[in-house]
Amino acid sequence: MSWKSMDDLALAGKTVLTRVDINVPMEGDVVTDTTRIDKICPTVADIIARGGKVVLLAHFGRPKGKVVPEMSLKRVQPTLEAAMGRKVVFVERPSRPLIDGLPFDSVILVENTRFSAMEEANDPAMARFLASLGDVFCNDAFSAAHRAHASTEGIAHLLPSFAGRLMEEELRALESALGNPQRPVVAVVGGAKVSTKLELLGNLVTKVDHLVIGGGMANTFLVAQGIEVGKSLAERDMAPLALQIMAKAKAAGCTLHLPVDVVVAAAFQAGADNSIVAPNACPPDQMILDAGPATVAALTAVFESCKTLIWNGPLGAFEIAPFDAATTAAARVAAALTKAHKLVSVAGGGDTVFALNHAGVASDFTFISTAGGAFLEWMEGKVLPGVAAL
Ligand code: 3PG
Repeated sequence: MSWKSMDDLALAGKTVLTRVDINVPMEGDVVTDTTRIDKICPTVADIIARGGKVVLLAHFGRPKGKVVPEMSLKRVQPTLEAAMGRKVVFVERPSRPLIDGLPFDSVILVENTRFSAMEEANDPAMARFLASLGDVFCNDAFSAAHRAHASTEGIAHLLPSFAGRLMEEELRALESALGNPQRPVVAVVGGAKVSTKLELLGNLVTKVDHLVIGGGMANTFLVAQGIEVGKSLAERDMAPLALQIMAKAKAAGCTLHLPVDVVVAAAFQAGADNSIVAPNACPPDQMILDAGPATVAALTAVFESCKTLIWNGPLGAFEIAPFDAATTAAARVAAALTKAHKLVSVAGGGDTVFALNHAGVASDFTFISTAGGAFLEWMEGKVLPGVAAL
């Protein structure tokens, strides 16, 4: 994979339309996780240092082509200013003369691109309008690159375009995890439903040496093998597809790992009475809520035998203790191996990053993607239109 970076273009005196993903979680007027904002700062600083004027293009939420005041990007302006340490000028109705009148050392933030229905329709007229606001296009929004929208894809065909620093960092990390990884490679895929991750599993079994299936998804695989799982979350109608994935894994030489012991309880409640049983011994009135310690020990051995780890999705119902135990323990093993330079570890997806933060090890992983949906689509082997356009 190759792309243009800011080292390939002269930016002095140029207005750089910079697509970022500042779709951040907020409570009231407070940004509760500034990661996405912090991560675009190097790109902004670098463009300014090269003499470019930064105009930020971004979406917030899903306003569906309407002006929704609660989704105005004005709400993130103070957090952007604090993170970048410079003035951010918010522009509701951008025009080239207005932008030309603003100083080079300020950052210009344009209102939510999704307030126009033409954005998500990738309407050429919207792409042309956005392109008319600047001289070059920088895409630093890997996490929105799975969307072929006017500000992520259309515009890239109209101006000289390049990948921002965060986009480059994401692409490099993902390439090293799945494109051309050091083998053996283990992928951990967890979460509630097989149905949302079918394409992902189908792609991964052809690419990785070990596939660890965790969370509610693992129950569906147990059911597919004729194992009764009581009241556990399981998609019984997905059993035939689970069997197909198992067959595909076998044919591709990928070893599939399911829990070898499970934590069961009568209710999904904090501190609920629970016990550790074999996967085929879940009582009919109980449910599987986590993988057990023997599974963590087995995963530890798999991690130790591998050089690359890619992780998406928790191993259990990690939101509530004690059902976070397996995810936390396995994440700590991966982090320790990474710190000892024995493993390259890449993780992505909202729940996963939350779980790794919860385990206190996110900063020890080699790379944590800022992307949710885009990370999944990339793992599924799909071409991301925003990246392809670069
Ligand atoms: C995200 O939060 O994953 C990105 O900003 C994309 O948002 P979307 O799913 O609304 O397109």
